[in-house]
Amino acid sequence: MGATSKMIASAAEVIRRGGIVGFPTETVYGLGANALDAAAVRKIFVAKGRPSDNPLIVHIADEAMLASIVARVPRSAKALMRRFWPGPLTIVFARNAAVSDFVTAGLDTIAVRIPAHPIAIELIRAAGVPIAAPSANRSGRPSPTSARHVREDFPHLMILDGGVTMHGLESTVVAVDKTPRVLRLGAITLEELREVVPGIGLAEHRRNEPPPSPGMKYRHYAPAIPLILFGPRKLDALRHRARRKGTLVLCAERYVPLFRNAYSLGSTPAEIAANLFDLLRRDWH
Ligand code: TXA
Ligand code: MG
Repeated sequence: MGATSKMIASAAEVIRRGGIVGFPTETVYGLGANALDAAAVRKIFVAKGRPSDNPLIVHIADEAMLASIVARVPRSAKALMRRFWPGPLTIVFARNAAVSDFVTAGLDTIAVRIPAHPIAIELIRAAGVPIAAPSANRSGRPSPTSARHVREDFPHLMILDGGVTMHGLESTVVAVDKTPRVLRLGAITLEELREVVPGIGLAEHRRNEPPPSPGMKYRHYAPAIPLILFGPRKLDALRHRARRKGTLVLCAERYVPLFRNAYSLGSTPAEIAANLFDLLRRDWH
């Protein structure tokens, strides 16, 4: 059953009292807590088994909420906000003092977005505080694209059910200090970003330096069985491996006829993105 206004109101009450709830966004489900309450945010890290040096994204309902958490809004950020908010773009700003150090993992920056999902917006408004939320999966597992996925990882959690999420991939994360750059690719492509900020590219990750986005040093999306990721240029090698017993190929619709044991992820990039995490979570045995 979908979340009713009454359920959203009681979830907001849980947030206000320092608890955590699962809620839908247009990308993936989030595991939310009051971003201004250190003890509440800590519960997220404990529940997920998330390393404490991996900061969270703060979700706000409108730009007015930005003032309470960021120090300043650079011009490039304004252009990106105008085009992509509400939506799957997370922007990393200089932080201000109100936010819990747990949210930012001690960094002097803070990642923020306005989700394009009516339940998420209603929840933030009803709670009256910015909501810090990572994806609602146990650390290392594929991100959840349905309430059922969240329940698999957190059987006792209060979850607002918003059905299957629209994008099925996380938000794209960009930094806007100095040179604007992409820290994590997601639902918004580099091409789309370049329509607003022409020079924007992927953040460089220099050897012997910490990754531009702390989350990049950890294992992600691990399915329950071995997984090999192949690009189309390695198709011959892939077809060879796929003949092994017990191997399953997840691929774009048009490649399915090339294999004996292939399952379609979909035809378009959007469809493939929407199906990917669900298929990674499926029990294929
Ligand atoms: O679509 C999404 O982004 C979902 C929904 C729930 O909004 N959230 C999500 O959160 O994917 P999470 O915690 O799984 O990923 C957050 C990413 C991590 O890679 C983290 O390192 C990065 O954002 N991040 C957060 N704060 C940052 C900061 N201050 N500087 C650089 N990267 C940051
Ligand atoms: Mg995640």
